[in-house]
Amino acid sequence: MAPVQVQDKYDASQFQTAHGGKTKRGSFTVNSENQTRAKYPEYLPTWNPNDKYPPYKFMKFHDKGLLADSQDSTYSHLFANKSNSFTNKRLSPKLGSIIDGIQLSELSDLGKNELAKFVTERGVVAFKNQNFNSKGPEFAVDFMKYFGPLHIHPTSGSPENFPNMHITFRGASQQELDSVFKNSNNSISWHSDCSYSLNGLQLTLFSVLQLPESGGDTLFANCVEAYNRLSKEFAARLEGLHILHSSKEQFENQKKNGGILRRDFAEENIHPIIRINPLTKQKSLYLNKEFGRRIIELKQEESDYLLNFLYDHLEKSQDLQVRISWDEDTIVLWNNATTIHTPVVDFNEPVIRHAYRISVMGERPINDLKNLNDENYLKEKYEKLSI
Ligand SMILES: [Fe+2]
Repeated sequence: MAPVQVQDKYDASQFQTAHGGKTKRGSFTVNSENQTRAKYPEYLPTWNPNDKYPPYKFMKFHDKGLLADSQDSTYSHLFANKSNSFTNKRLSPKLGSIIDGIQLSELSDLGKNELAKFVTERGVVAFKNQNFNSKGPEFAVDFMKYFGPLHIHPTSGSPENFPNMHITFRGASQQELDSVFKNSNNSISWHSDCSYSLNGLQLTLFSVLQLPESGGDTLFANCVEAYNRLSKEFAARLEGLHILHSSKEQFENQKKNGGILRRDFAEENIHPIIRINPLTKQKSLYLNKEFGRRIIELKQEESDYLLNFLYDHLEKSQDLQVRISWDEDTIVLWNNATTIHTPVVDFNEPVIRHAYRISVMGERPINDLKNLNDENYLKEKYEKLSI
């Protein structure tokens, strides 16, 4: 069994030396041609080598979805101001919904609590015809602050003054497109965003501001359903196992490519391979090839063998996945703890694809609700591995 591979590949969220642009403040940004062609220049990524952030420390997290009325299956606050053309359609029976006919920007706090619950229950939800993007970065960041502390990515670019906004920007360049497939036959890289963090990223908002005529979709897989598909006997064998998640390769690639680091160290954390969601009480598989390195209780070959099986199970089970297609006014929210996703780079024409992401730092992943918000959870395992 081949070891789990780590790819060195083009990352549209990281600083590329070809960008070549500078802001008035002296931050790096995309080149002048892309600045001119960007439809939403206030959302362009900037990188400033002087902007440094401290390491993340353990944080308690209380899911706003727990404040929603668990008996209200109609989500009366979330869907309070629905238009006559309101639709609420399931993308597949167990994952994903598409909503049209409400404005997220007008939600009350009660509506936001129900939004958090709804997104966790459906895994990923696309809201069509939203008016977020024209309101600027500050509005979107403030909207997400309601749900909890927001993540600052260690290497990506952000609009100046909005470090919580993670930008992915692919310029109108054939060279950029070619670099996607330079060392790889496809663009698929399933992952849970930044799973190497101690407090995992949870509720996530994503919006594509500018995009090709077709292509550039995102695939999602349901890790709760993937767990439920396992035989009871197999699932029982996974209990008590933990994965070392690491940003080391992301960090080293960034350094090697002349990139800019917001934290001068890689992050490594241990998380249970099966985690439980405090809101739904459902268990899910918590693993992804991009950042998962090894099952710490097993020998390397055993770990590779088991992880490769589980990665295949998640990535190849199209009957627990959905595909989200973007347009400029669609806002998508997903629960990054209970799903994994991958970009799809399938467009040929060199056009701009510009998007932003904002993520709430959720609870530290746990296997048992008794450990929720326990800072000392897995302390012995950290000591044993000296991390
Ligand atoms: Fe991602």
